[in-house]
Amino acid sequence: MKRLVLDTDPGIDDALTILYALASPEVKMEAITVVNGNCPMEQGVINALSVLELAGATHIPVARGMDKPLLLPVINAEVTHGKSGLGYAELPPPKASPTEKHAVELIRDLVLQDPGQINIVAIGPLTNIAMAVRLYPQIVDAVQHLYIMGGAINHCGNMTPQAEFNIYCDPHAASIVFHSGIPFTLVPLDVTYQTLMTRDDLNMFAPLQTPLSDFVIKASSYVMKYLSESQEVMGCALNDPLALAALFQPNLLDINHLVLDVDTNYGVSMGKTFADFYNYEQKPENGYAALNVRARDFVEIFIERMIKISQ
Ligand code: BDR
Ligand code: CA
Repeated sequence: MKRLVLDTDPGIDDALTILYALASPEVKMEAITVVNGNCPMEQGVINALSVLELAGATHIPVARGMDKPLLLPVINAEVTHGKSGLGYAELPPPKASPTEKHAVELIRDLVLQDPGQINIVAIGPLTNIAMAVRLYPQIVDAVQHLYIMGGAINHCGNMTPQAEFNIYCDPHAASIVFHSGIPFTLVPLDVTYQTLMTRDDLNMFAPLQTPLSDFVIKASSYVMKYLSESQEVMGCALNDPLALAALFQPNLLDINHLVLDVDTNYGVSMGKTFADFYNYEQKPENGYAALNVRARDFVEIFIERMIKISQ
C-alpha cells in the first residue's frame, strides 16, 4: 500500500483526484495540504473538506498552506474551474475544520515520522513543497517520492503558449523543488492532455443519481465546456488524477530520467518546463518525466473506480 500526502489547489480535477484516491485500495491518503492555485487557498480548503464530507471521508486531515506564490502575485483559474473552484457543482459548507498545523509543518511531520514511507502527490503550484524543502531540508532524503502534475515538455502550454498552469503560477517554487535533490516525477500536459474523460464517459454516471455521481457530472461538465471552447480539447483532461496514477499505476506511463528545468525569467517563456534531452550542459539527471501514456487504459480504470465509489 502506497502512503501519500496530496498537496492540492481544489479545483475540479483535484476534487476528482481526492475521490480517485478514496476509490483506490492501493493507496492511503494520509492528509490533504492546500495551496493557492485554481482558487484562493481558503476556498480550496473549503472545497477539500466538502469533497471529503461528500465521500464520507472526514477522517482525513486538511491543512491550510501557502496563500500566495513565493515571488509573483496571486493568480487563480476561475475561468477553468468556476467561481468556487468546483465548476457547476455546489456542495454544502463543510462541518469540519482544517488542522491547526500549517500544511508545511504537516508535510514535515508526516514525512519525518516515517522516513522512506511517505509519497507526496503535488497537483497544484509547488509553493508548499518549495517551502517545505527550504525550511526542512531533511525531508528531501526522507520522502519516498514526489509526483508532480505540472509542466509541458514537448507540448504547448495551457496558461501561456509555453507554460502549464501549475508551474506558471509559481515558477520559482518549481525551480527550488527541481534542484533540491528530492526524487521527483513530472506528469506534464504531454500525457495528461491525452487522458480525456469524454461526454460519453460522463454519461455513464447519469443513471446512478447519487450525490457523488451528480457532483462528478456537474464539476466535470464545466471544465469540459471550457476546454472544448477555448482549446478544442474534447473532454475533461484528467491532469491531476493521472499524477496520482503515476504513484500506483506506473505501468500506464513511459517515464524517462532527464535533466529537467524551468524558466524563471520574466519573459515570454516564464514558467516553461524543459528537458535537456541531449544534455548540452553535461548535468546529471535530476528527475523523471512521463512522456507517453496508455491513455484509454487509464481513462477506463478511472471511470470504473469512480462509478463504483459513486454508487
Ligand atoms: C493543472 O492546472 C489546474 O488547472 C489543474 O487542476 C491541474 O492541476 C493543469 O494545468
Ligand atoms: Ca490542480
